[in-house]
Amino acid sequence: MKIIAVIGSGTMGNGIAHTFAQFGYQVNLIDINVEALQKALKTIEKNLDRQVQKETLSETEKQETLARINIFTDMKEGVVQADLVVEAATEQLDLKLKIFREVDIFAPPHTIIASNTSSISITQIAAVTNRGSQVIGMHFMNPVPVMQLVEVIRGYATSDETTAAVMELSVKLAKKPVEVNDYPGFVANRILMPMINEAIATLYEGVAGVSEIDTVMKLGMAHPMGPLQLADFIGLDVCLAILKVLHDGFGNPKYAPCPLLVNMVMAGKKGIKSGEGFYNYA
Ligand code: CAA
Repeated sequence: MKIIAVIGSGTMGNGIAHTFAQFGYQVNLIDINVEALQKALKTIEKNLDRQVQKETLSETEKQETLARINIFTDMKEGVVQADLVVEAATEQLDLKLKIFREVDIFAPPHTIIASNTSSISITQIAAVTNRGSQVIGMHFMNPVPVMQLVEVIRGYATSDETTAAVMELSVKLAKKPVEVNDYPGFVANRILMPMINEAIATLYEGVAGVSEIDTVMKLGMAHPMGPLQLADFIGLDVCLAILKVLHDGFGNPKYAPCPLLVNMVMAGKKGIKSGEGFYNYA
């Protein structure tokens, strides 16, 4: 694999582009909005600078990494030569289905199409393409250049060859891939989101305040971030969307999103991205 197309230049997309480029791959970063692409390049440069400051990357490697990333606003141009496409668009089913239909038309026949979805069914996404065996989940964690895990999700039709190729590729990015099957929330979010939801319910019921809840989990369980801070970091809208997938997929009331989370998202308090969530970032 040489050319990797990354669709979506938000937090996850720019982290994925950064990581592939750092490890020597040619990256075509695709977004409908040229301003978003320029912002993503600035973010990647800023994050590469952190690595240069920590002396885990040289200035030359930083420049070479940046030079490997090309930006595109046209889907066809971006994917037509790609060996792998990683979709990292907004977590909306209709949008993902539209993207997968298009990519399936424009990408070469050998190309694997992966989704970085945090909870949408890979099997459902694969079903709108004519290459179900070459569709897979490649779920990176935020911040992508730092976190070691890639959750590799096998859809119902994903082949052994596709899975092996994506596992091998993840290792080349210095990540630790873990293979899981396609059921709601996969493994990461099936376990993480009930914890975050319970932390929000603990706040909602007045058991403790925001910083008390986070401190208990940080100091008591050695989590790098408390669950409420982590929810802000992930995005409260994303947490809500994932909980809805778990709730719908399993039909179990234990996954019902806490009413406080629902209200906060409706009020536009989405965490770091909106300037306010459980904490204030203004
Ligand atoms: N790019 C490159 N390097 C970065 C970076 C980025 N975007 N963000 C942070 N770093 C580096 C820093 O330079 C620093 O490097 P050193 O270890 O070499 O010093 C290191 O990462 C730690 O960063 P900081 O010192 O700034 O801050 P910190 O110690 O508080 O760590 C954190 C920040 C790594 C984000 C840490 O708080 C953490 O691990 N938090 C939990 C993250 C997590 O759980 N992610 C998963 C979220 S769930 C998800 O993504 C999937 C989903 O489906 C919802």
